[in-house]
Amino acid sequence: MSRCRVCSAAVREFLDFGRQPLSSAFRSPGETAEEFRFRLAVGICESCTMVQLLEEVPQARRAHQGYPYHSSGSVVMREHFERTARRLLSTELSGGDPLFVEIGCNDGVVLGTVAAAGVRQLAFEPSGEAAGRVHRAFFDAASAREVRAAEGPADVVYAANTLCDVADIAAVLQGAEVLLAPDGVLVFEDPYLGEIIERTSFDQIYDEHFYYFTARSVLAMARRSGFDLVDVEHLPVHGGQIRYTLARAGRRPPTAAVAELLAEEEARRLTAPETLDGFAATVGTIRTDLVKLLGRLTEEGHRLVGYGATAKSSTVLNYCGIGPELVPVVCDSTPSKQGRLTPGAGIPVVPPQAFSAPYPDYAVLFAWNHAEEIMAKERAFREAGGRWILYVPDVHIV
Ligand code: SAM
Ligand code: TMP
Ligand code: ZN
Repeated sequence: MSRCRVCSAAVREFLDFGRQPLSSAFRSPGETAEEFRFRLAVGICESCTMVQLLEEVPQARRAHQGYPYHSSGSVVMREHFERTARRLLSTELSGGDPLFVEIGCNDGVVLGTVAAAGVRQLAFEPSGEAAGRVHRAFFDAASAREVRAAEGPADVVYAANTLCDVADIAAVLQGAEVLLAPDGVLVFEDPYLGEIIERTSFDQIYDEHFYYFTARSVLAMARRSGFDLVDVEHLPVHGGQIRYTLARAGRRPPTAAVAELLAEEEARRLTAPETLDGFAATVGTIRTDLVKLLGRLTEEGHRLVGYGATAKSSTVLNYCGIGPELVPVVCDSTPSKQGRLTPGAGIPVVPPQAFSAPYPDYAVLFAWNHAEEIMAKERAFREAGGRWILYVPDVHIV
């Protein structure tokens, strides 16, 4: 039986995708070594309700060097992070000589914006992607202690799309406890289980998303580490996220938004067994519908491609058993993915310029979280008679 990584109680499994490759392990053509696989299955803690993966990928298997993800590849995301930085600058970082610390800054849009405003900042980023004051280290109590000794206490510790990936999340909370000033805050934003269930966006489930937070599970986790959940905010990015703000227990009254979200989660029975089992059943229906549609279109002689070699697409392709026979190529703007094969499924990744040469009949939008931006950029595809295939919240053509 699996044990909760937050509170050690029993975890009940509700969805099993089988053995999956690592979502960022793109391969070179001709590579023959067997791909590493792990069991991608999700469960819920019967005590603290934290939804989490049942199997953790060993650290040594994770590709922090040469990580192909770049946050600033999307204009919408770049704007989102600039806005985030400006908001923090005008609120938590508006006092005398504040210190901002980011965990997992990647290519550094938030960090860069804070730095440009002349505020003291530094980041922990093991992949060493960003320029600036970056510690190439994991954030935990020991590394936090070093920074505290050198720089003094932090006013904000911030992380986007990172804490959901850290199985030993208690170590991060301990680090925040060491580093934060008495009135400092830990702010983090990650995919929200409520949105994943609402949209049946099962492709949010992959190796680098270990936790699927709710207000209730984050509150329970915060309290175990001497913090309180004092604010929540819905974010429209990456298919629906929540930004959580944690403060030291008793230092700040929670906003009304916290009680509202907790009540909403309760009313919709977000983590009840019937909700999670119903989600798993709908995921199975999407698999059947998608494979049937792609098979029919291919048989009818239509040309199909994929758009966006996302980490999410790894779950869809490998769980549904879709390979180059149904989706011959995937277009993607990330140079380090181009010329390589998608993990497991082995579909060649080509640059977006190949999309229009000539346009296919159908394109499966794996980067559906960037739908608005991509559809606007690729308007000529639809004008030429092309159609987008989406599989969230159900399989449909637009
Ligand atoms: N914050 C960026 C964004 O939202 O687009 C990047 C998110 S990326 C999915 C996660 C980043 O966190 C990676 O660059 C990874 O190297 C880094 N990371 C993972 N675990 C970490 C840890 N314990 N401490 C610091 N950085 C970590
Ligand atoms: P993400 O869902 O993790 O943000 O990944 C988005 C992927 O889609 C990434 O590999 C880059 C790709 N992409 C494009 O190819 N064109 C675009 O316009 C955008 C926004 C993303
Ligand atoms: Zn638990």
